[in-house]
Amino acid sequence: MRLGIFGTGYAGLVTSVCLAELGHTVTAVDKDPDIVATLSQGQSTIHEPGLPELLVNNIKAGRLKFTTRSEDAIAGSDIIFVCVGTPPRSDGRADLCQVEEVARTIAPLLDGYKLVVEKSTVPARTARWISWTIRRLAGPEAEFDVASNPEFLREGTAVRDFLQPDRIVIGADSGRARSLLLDLYRPNFDCPIVLTSVTTAELIKQTANAFLAAKISFINVMSDLCETLGVDVATVARGIGLDPRIGGQFLNAGLGFGGSCLPKDLSALIKVAEENGVDSGMLKEVQRINSARVERLLSKLETALWVVRHKVVAVLGVAFKANTDDIRGATSLTVVPWLRAAGANLRVYDPAAMQKLEALYPPDDHLMYAQSACEAARGAHALVILTDWDEFRSLDLERLRSLMRTPIVIDGRNLFTPAKMQAAGFEYYSLGHGDVAPSVETQRIAP
Ligand code: UGA
Repeated sequence: MRLGIFGTGYAGLVTSVCLAELGHTVTAVDKDPDIVATLSQGQSTIHEPGLPELLVNNIKAGRLKFTTRSEDAIAGSDIIFVCVGTPPRSDGRADLCQVEEVARTIAPLLDGYKLVVEKSTVPARTARWISWTIRRLAGPEAEFDVASNPEFLREGTAVRDFLQPDRIVIGADSGRARSLLLDLYRPNFDCPIVLTSVTTAELIKQTANAFLAAKISFINVMSDLCETLGVDVATVARGIGLDPRIGGQFLNAGLGFGGSCLPKDLSALIKVAEENGVDSGMLKEVQRINSARVERLLSKLETALWVVRHKVVAVLGVAFKANTDDIRGATSLTVVPWLRAAGANLRVYDPAAMQKLEALYPPDDHLMYAQSACEAARGAHALVILTDWDEFRSLDLERLRSLMRTPIVIDGRNLFTPAKMQAAGFEYYSLGHGDVAPSVETQRIAP
């Protein structure tokens, strides 16, 4: 099929590359000429495992091209995917300006029947507005449908998630739209396909992300109780997760959920519930619990250091989670300014996302970007872990301890166990494992 894709952000780029990989002819549009130039040269604009190879291969095979010209993506296309951003507004609603702009762009360029498909996460009933906008601008004769086909891609494993999906959701209100999307996916995938109405598909996506967020906040509440009772939250998570009704995934306690999706989609769903007169109390509680996670970490740091001013603090992890360079909604965006305001000297390291933080907080006398975790730890009074990179899990603890001025670790992602850290001579604070006081040999030396 010939496909037009609007937006080359995380979802748009992965969708474009993977649909080309399945053999379709894809034209992806972005307004930013620099992004289009970079992608056209086969260079990925995002850090996503597996993507660079597929990008190059599909450009070479002539199945994938990038352009700033909307008309090139629309002319002759069977399906147009809307993958533009829907960032949060200050009131919590999703900002749909970019979605509306795509609808306005498409309307005058329709050259025969088109299926316009929402891939971006949008509040339930957004398709109605897209449809209304195109109809108003293209006139009563225009032939088109608007469908919803939400993506369930996780950053870091997005290529695999796209090519090996656990389910495909197709929300279409006409037979023609439904058939087109089934023709697109059926030949390549044998996973369950949920065929439903457009509004239901929109709500499935919002519900999925809200449920994932709720699961994380739930285990985080339990983790606080575990700490108090001297119980290991990871064991509790395993004990409940083996029940298939609960499932073992998304039960990692710690700093909670960040990123560009879960926090934003939860806020938007709260607004949808409120606007429709439905009790949003539970969703708000999920949000409140999540916001408190970083405060808990910072209070542990203060407990460990007493006075933060002039202390050297190593920060490991800038990205909102491992295997991505994305810092949207990352805990580092709260922790770094807080520590700076508290007068700490920071040494920050992340395997992939440092440049993005550096653009917001350039290095200065109190903020240094290190080339490795060990360099960040050198001379530190405390080390704070914010992201669950495997590289941090496999750190040489003996070396790490020898580099630090005082061996204090505040582990926001529970990468280690208290027993292991105690054996390695650390004063260890986690979110859900219980804290470990320093043993006699590792008592703090004077700062
Ligand atoms: C999320 C969903 O998982 C995807 O299914 C969805 O398609 C995507 O949003 C989207 O709407 O586009 P993503 O934002 O890439 O994907 O990240 P997740 O893997 O969901 O992680 C979100 C946050 O939760 C991260 O900060 C992560 O560290 C945290 N998390 C995750 C936990 O704190 N505990 C866990 O057990 C799992």
